[in-house]
Amino acid sequence: MLRTEESCAKFQPLFSLRADGERKTRKGNRVASISSLGYFVIGATDLAACEAFAVDAIGLQTGMGHAKDSLTLRMDDHAQRVLIQKSEHDDLLAVGWQLDTEQALDEFVSDLKRKQVQVQMGSPELIAERRVKLLYHCDCPNGIRHEFYAGALRASTLDAFRSKVMKAGFLTGRLGVGHFVIAARDAGEATDFCTQVLGIRISDYIRGEVAPGKVLDATFYHTSTGRHHSIATAMVPFPLGKRIHHIMFEMVDMDDVGMAFDRCIKLGYEITSGLGHHPNDKMFSFYVRTPSGFLLEVGTGGVVVDDDNWEIKSFSQLSDWGHHKSQPKPATT
Ligand SMILES: [Fe+2]
Repeated sequence: MLRTEESCAKFQPLFSLRADGERKTRKGNRVASISSLGYFVIGATDLAACEAFAVDAIGLQTGMGHAKDSLTLRMDDHAQRVLIQKSEHDDLLAVGWQLDTEQALDEFVSDLKRKQVQVQMGSPELIAERRVKLLYHCDCPNGIRHEFYAGALRASTLDAFRSKVMKAGFLTGRLGVGHFVIAARDAGEATDFCTQVLGIRISDYIRGEVAPGKVLDATFYHTSTGRHHSIATAMVPFPLGKRIHHIMFEMVDMDDVGMAFDRCIKLGYEITSGLGHHPNDKMFSFYVRTPSGFLLEVGTGGVVVDDDNWEIKSFSQLSDWGHHKSQPKPATT
């Protein structure tokens, strides 16, 4: 379990976010921005089950481990994109937000401290475990540790990423590791954390019925490099028992999404939503239940936000088509 620290929500909003995306303090100083979501840290009761799912069904690669009670997974040239730690709780423990330089990280953290956010420097052990050069962290109102880092370690050129099963690989790079959706306890707190602490921008909203009489209300946020959303906060109309609804990995090629879909079915994983298309990020995707209980969205074709021309919209449905809870049976003749 993560240590419970003082809430990050207790702060004074000392900066404004301008329409052109540049954040400035009230005194007019430029504030460094998060460039992307860089990694996930997940707690799991069964590391072997997680490894089999991630490697054989989805296509990640096992990386160089730390200890017998953790599992490192790769998706690209980073030495580590996902760290799974043995835990009594199957849930998201922490996420890493990338700042492009140590100077940008220092500026970002100084701004948090000015806003009275309880941000702490990572210990040498934590920095080594995350395989980054410099790291700070705080907790969000939903109990997830948010880590701000610079200098993620890359794998050797002699150790290029190789998936056992994929054709073209994951879409990461400047767009980061993917996205995650928090099952927010309080919409206002979640919004304040994203806009005031993380300092990221709203992409759009979806308020749609997910079951008769059950409405899911979600807000989506993007970082400066523009993946449509790196985090979304959702008021979910039923108990999840987890901090998150799902995480998402994006693939370069539609064939890889389809082949992952087939592998998940063949290997017996539960497809909770079949292939479909979202109206806001235009993602073609499906959802599968991970061994940790929360969902993984596997998709391709997500929108990249251009802040100069972006219009924030509100959508009334979660999917344009598909994403059915169970696969339709073929018609019999
Ligand atoms: Fe998603």
